[in-house]
Amino acid sequence: MNEKQPIGVIGAGWVGLVTAACFADLGHRVVVREIVPGKVDALRRGEVPIHEPDLPELIERNGQRLTFTTDMAELLDAAQLIFVCVQTPPTHSGDADLSAVQRAIEEIGDPEGKALVMKSTVPVGTGRSIRRDAPDLAYVSCPEFLREGTAVRDFMGPDRIVIGVDPGDERAGDEVAAAYEPLGAPIVQTDLASAEMIKLASNAYLATKISFINEIANVCDQVGADVTEVAKGMGLDPRIGPRFLNAGLGFGGSCFPKDTQALKMLAGNIGYHFQLLNSVIEVNELQKRRVMSKLSTHLDSLVDKRVAMLGLAFKPDTDDMREASSLVLASRLEGEGATVVAFDPVAEDAARELLPNVKMAGSALDALVGADAAILVTEWPEFAALDWADVAKRMANPLLVDGRNFLDPDVVRAAGITYEAIGRPSIADRSAVTKAER
Ligand code: UDX
Repeated sequence: MNEKQPIGVIGAGWVGLVTAACFADLGHRVVVREIVPGKVDALRRGEVPIHEPDLPELIERNGQRLTFTTDMAELLDAAQLIFVCVQTPPTHSGDADLSAVQRAIEEIGDPEGKALVMKSTVPVGTGRSIRRDAPDLAYVSCPEFLREGTAVRDFMGPDRIVIGVDPGDERAGDEVAAAYEPLGAPIVQTDLASAEMIKLASNAYLATKISFINEIANVCDQVGADVTEVAKGMGLDPRIGPRFLNAGLGFGGSCFPKDTQALKMLAGNIGYHFQLLNSVIEVNELQKRRVMSKLSTHLDSLVDKRVAMLGLAFKPDTDDMREASSLVLASRLEGEGATVVAFDPVAEDAARELLPNVKMAGSALDALVGADAAILVTEWPEFAALDWADVAKRMANPLLVDGRNFLDPDVVRAAGITYEAIGRPSIADRSAVTKAER
């Protein structure tokens, strides 16, 4: 059997670790270069510095094939195919900060026989400018579509693999295709700029779908329709599809906010006004605050009120707080004079620094004790298993706003809790509806 070619990975962040561990699991020897010595030491001890399901087991199972180092020479000696998985955070202008990418290219130095495979999300045109500056370095754009919380599963079961090369780098593109071939997914081989745009456009489209269903939910609130029923009916049309039609408190995380901004900036830099994207971003910011109006229909004022937040992470199965809706919500609540108590199964440590005035509780029930209202912010499965009758007893005022339409309204209401959600009929609307059915 052909020896799998060794792979180099620059950056042991979330994308880098998942990419490295999965390629090792596919049989490749993988050398991971990380500049933070502490991270390398931890990984060598078998400690995984991020919360990502299945990743620790995968790294342990493939320990023989994985090398972690701070030494770029060790990577360059071992591998021709070098996956760049460094951070490209937004600068103040909203453009992507490519300094880590530049540093990696400088450190590669003599590109002879090397191929750089860009996994980091970069603005369209980045690949072409790197090729211009380093013509001897083969360059492949291979954007990732991993979701936090399911990244290992997403890597091993991709919807598609996108490979972008410009004329002259076809061989490198084929080598990347060969590395992904065992996954059996469709491989889109295209030019550099199109590959880079597929990434940004895919995320921007998913963000658009979310902002759209959130606006539909806001209309449902006014007309007594149930957005979860609406989404079900819409999603059966294969042209629409059922996924990413969950109305809630808006999208967060390290990708959608950043990539929608980056695409907006990209368009702006070439003098094109991307109206739709502007609205997607605006709707999302407003949606994070939508709960406030729901609270005010039940509580005259939030001054000296105790409000419990269930969940802080931008979504379940991650400890990532980047652009989490909880950040905006907590500061709005505090701004209105409320005391905020929160619980999150894994993100409390990350949240403490970002939310210094929020009291972190040891459990969901502790957070709910004496609360005048509660908001479900992140749809962690354990919240659905709460004993709502017990919750009703512990709260000072049994009022819950389900910011992710995650719970069963009937179950929560049967426990004597006033239940509000996003685009789902309130008790008043329901009695109107049932009366109409009679
Ligand atoms: C996203 C893309 O899904 C992934 O392909 C890309 O590589 C990186 O960005 P991620 O940010 O991990 O992944 O999370 P995702 O599951 O997409 O959720 C993003 C945000 O949208 C979360 O805040 C989530 O709560 C929200 N969301 C998602 C909704 O509000 N409604 C939905 O129906 C789906």
